Amino acid sequence: MRPDGIIIAIDGPAGVGKSTVGRLVADRVGYSFISTGKMYRALAWKALDLGLDLEDDGALVGLAGSLKWAFPKGPGPEAGVSLDGRVLGLEITDERAGKASSGIARLAGVRLFMRDMQRQAGASGGVVMEGRDIGTNVFPDAELKVYLDASPQARAGRRVEQLRGQGLEADYSQVLDFIIKRDAQDSGRRNNPLKKAEDAHYLDSTSMARELVVDAIVGLFRGVSRP
Ligand code: DC
Repeated sequence: MRPDGIIIAIDGPAGVGKSTVGRLVADRVGYSFISTGKMYRALAWKALDLGLDLEDDGALVGLAGSLKWAFPKGPGPEAGVSLDGRVLGLEITDERAGKASSGIARLAGVRLFMRDMQRQAGASGGVVMEGRDIGTNVFPDAELKVYLDASPQARAGRRVEQLRGQGLEADYSQVLDFIIKRDAQDSGRRNNPLKKAEDAHYLDSTSMARELVVDAIVGLFRGVSRP
């Protein structure tokens, strides 16, 4: 057992609700929550801002290493990552940052940097960490692994609702198209592609209410953390 508890790894495709569910699970069990997607998004956003070449792995790793990363806890999905003291919210939520983050996440150096930072952030346990490769690559020894899935149509519908809830414009067919392309890129890449770890629990949330998904994961947690 780690000093602060176990590691709950939640992986799955774009828009499946890993952040929302992960945060709720963390609140229920008194753990901290880390969204690793936000780390890739933050780096991509910063690189876009500086006009860096998004294919230049070395330059991106150099940039990542020059920044001061922090993972503040706070209400709402926006308080997840800060760079050089600036908490990033809506600026990393849009599809531009989503597409760019999926692109830079293909690069081997970027992935190694992120993996090391994520291992450091979660090493003492007591954490829910969500992403694409947490159970397969970052913490293959996580005590509880969940692969959260849902149909692309259900995910697009939820994403539209989420964006509109944030006051942003969203078109269903465009969002569905983004999701299908991002799935292909995240699952088809050579370095740590999105896939279910063999020992992960598979949860298809297509027709499950969010509360039921949270209940299911908390139930699994109780089973694992009770001797
Ligand atoms: O979960 P998200 O949409 O915020 O993630 C943005 C991108 O970051 C995603 O398309 C792929 C990449 N990513 C990754 O490769 N590995 C992770 N553990 C998390 C995200």
